[in-house]
Amino acid sequence: MLFLAAALICVNCHKEIVERFERTPMANSSGVVKAAGESSGTIRRFSLAVAAERDGLRLRWPGGEVELTFFIGSRRMGRSYAYSSGGHLFQAPVGYYANRKVWDLPPGYERDKAPDFSRPITEECLSCHATRAKAAPGTVNQFTQVVHGVQCARCHGDAESHEGLVNPRRLPPRLRDSVCEQCHLAGRVRLARVGKRIEDFRPGLELGEFVEVITGGAAAGVRVNGHAESLAMSLCKQRSGERLWCGTCHNPHAGEKTGYNAACRSCHEQPHRDGDCVGCHMPKGRAADGGHTVYTDHRITGARGAPAVMRSYFGREVSPRDLGLAYVRLGVAERNADYLEKAWPLLRRAAGEGKKDPELYETIGGLLESGGRREQAEAYYRLSLKQDALQPGVMRKLAALARGAEAEQLLRKARAIIGNPIHSR
Ligand code: HEC
Ligand code: HEC
Ligand code: HEC
Ligand code: HEC
Ligand code: HEC
Ligand code: HEC
Ligand code: HEC
Repeated sequence: MLFLAAALICVNCHKEIVERFERTPMANSSGVVKAAGESSGTIRRFSLAVAAERDGLRLRWPGGEVELTFFIGSRRMGRSYAYSSGGHLFQAPVGYYANRKVWDLPPGYERDKAPDFSRPITEECLSCHATRAKAAPGTVNQFTQVVHGVQCARCHGDAESHEGLVNPRRLPPRLRDSVCEQCHLAGRVRLARVGKRIEDFRPGLELGEFVEVITGGAAAGVRVNGHAESLAMSLCKQRSGERLWCGTCHNPHAGEKTGYNAACRSCHEQPHRDGDCVGCHMPKGRAADGGHTVYTDHRITGARGAPAVMRSYFGREVSPRDLGLAYVRLGVAERNADYLEKAWPLLRRAAGEGKKDPELYETIGGLLESGGRREQAEAYYRLSLKQDALQPGVMRKLAALARGAEAEQLLRKARAIIGNPIHSR
């Protein structure tokens, strides 16, 4: 795998910006592990030990070890790690939490009963933490090239000529906001629209063409990666509309712009008092949806504007397909059978349209399988695979239902796509 530093042509003419940006958390949000800068520690309840040694960062458990070669997260808040097996990248079941200076299970593994080494690092994961990550043909987690961190191209485009680059500030507001939202808008559920891949978004396009993002309909606390949806709930945003955006307060090249309080005063010219507006009106708190980290409340006092029902962040009617898939994801994540119940008629309706939609058919297959209807589930998994052959997860599900030689062949194919994760136990 080839890891490159930032696209360095820009430095010839924008030296100061490049040097400032290089020090930001975004620019350092992924890369090759340098053991000298890492710390050692243990997660006792799983008998895992991380050791920063001269020649590498090692993860050990009784009977085995693996080298942690790639990181995700600048360590501003925390860091996750990946290991390579036969050139395929997998997430390691350890994360470093910078505020507590401890090692623990990384976000997303909290419910694990045993360390899980089998989750692939995909283009989607790197689409928010790296630049130009492209999986090799026929694989999902083997990368021929990754430019580490979020680099200039992610906000300005990847043009051949300078005229083709975009300045977000000069874009129409919806397109401007899309630039930050491509990574900073998670919602309760975010999913690719039919026939689209979020990885194909480019600055200058409208994010809503690529994804549906569902917000609302639940207690709206501060959420991990919820900055855009929180800001949308504030009276500031609702009353000032297009004028207010991420760039009003943040300079993406180097943290703070003119001072956050100065940004408040640019609209609230005669505030009710002096002092640190942000300290009172944008307090920090733990995220409602897990994680050990603390986030800044972008609702700017009160969730008055929180939508009471689930709806599209983009203000449009959600298609039955997208709503159905969203209910399934929520039903699984929140272990709520009501959501699955609601999903069913919506998905059936969507399937009736007969579109090419591998994700829809996989999801329907999954619901049928959990309802004990194996033969029907099998048919939907097959349909999904026929439409997209690069789905190792679906292959495995089908292998579990199919028999004999076919099952083995499916598992072999899945391994070619995703590689062989190591097993700790
Ligand atoms: C040969 C010199 C040169 C190179 C190389 C160069 N730029 Fe520029 N760029 C300029 C000049 C000159 C301007 C106009 C003056 C200014 O705004 O600083 C400019 C302006 C810009 C603007 C503002 C455009 C606008 O319409 O507001 C952006 C964004 C930008 N450059 C990004 C980049 C990025 C990203 C790279 C690397 C991929 C890059 N530039 C490489 C010379 C260069
Ligand atoms: C996270 C998004 C993001 C990244 C990454 C990013 N920029 Fe920018 N850049 C912006 C935004 C937003 C503006 C407009 C700022 C404004 O005017 O408020 C901007 C403006 C510019 C400008 C116009 C002059 C100025 O300072 O306003 C230049 C030049 C520029 N960027 C170069 C770069 C270069 C070179 C890199 C890579 C080292 C880079 N940018 C990385 C978001 C980004
Ligand atoms: C390609 C994905 C991507 C894009 C585009 C992006 N961000 Fe980020 N941003 C991230 C990630 C990932 C982090 C967390 C970095 C870390 O700590 O590892 C982050 C962190 C931040 C932070 C907190 C760290 C700091 O610098 O204080 C701010 C603020 C921020 N982004 C603002 C913006 C703004 C404003 C834009 C749009 C102009 C933008 N981002 C566009 C991915 C992105
Ligand atoms: C939709 C975009 C997106 C995707 C996909 C995504 N992240 Fe993030 N991640 C972010 C943003 C934005 C932040 C910055 C903090 C925030 O807003 O939550 C972040 C923060 C982090 C941090 C903490 C970094 C720090 O020190 O601040 C880690 C670790 C991390 N992500 C790991 C991962 C891993 C591993 C994956 C893939 C399995 C992943 N993320 C997928 C957007 C994303
Ligand atoms: C782009 C302009 C703009 C910016 C920047 C801005 N606000 Fe506002 N804010 C408004 C508008 C408009 C309202 C609606 C009430 C009004 O007109 O005063 C509002 C309302 C509020 C309210 C009342 C909230 C409620 O739910 O009743 C608070 C508190 C507030 N702003 C604090 C802040 C703070 C603190 C900052 C800086 C972190 C800030 N604002 C930045 C435009 C802005
Ligand atoms: C009204 C001002 C304001 C606006 C607008 C704003 N932010 Fe922030 N943001 C802040 C403040 C203040 C902090 C806390 C900074 C600190 O502690 O250093 C912050 C922190 C962050 C962080 C770091 C993680 C955290 O929660 O502390 C991220 C990421 C971030 N903002 C993203 C965004 C994005 C994306 C947008 C646009 C959707 C945005 N912000 C709009 C004021 C703002
Ligand atoms: C010591 C905490 C504190 C500080 C500092 C503070 N505020 Fe407030 N602010 C409050 C409280 C409490 C309210 C009343 C809350 C409510 O009605 O929901 C309020 C109300 C407001 C409102 C609503 C309407 C009004 O004018 O009464 C705005 C706007 C506002 N603050 C802006 C600001 C700005 C801008 C700053 C910084 C210059 C600031 N605040 C500093 C605590 C603070």
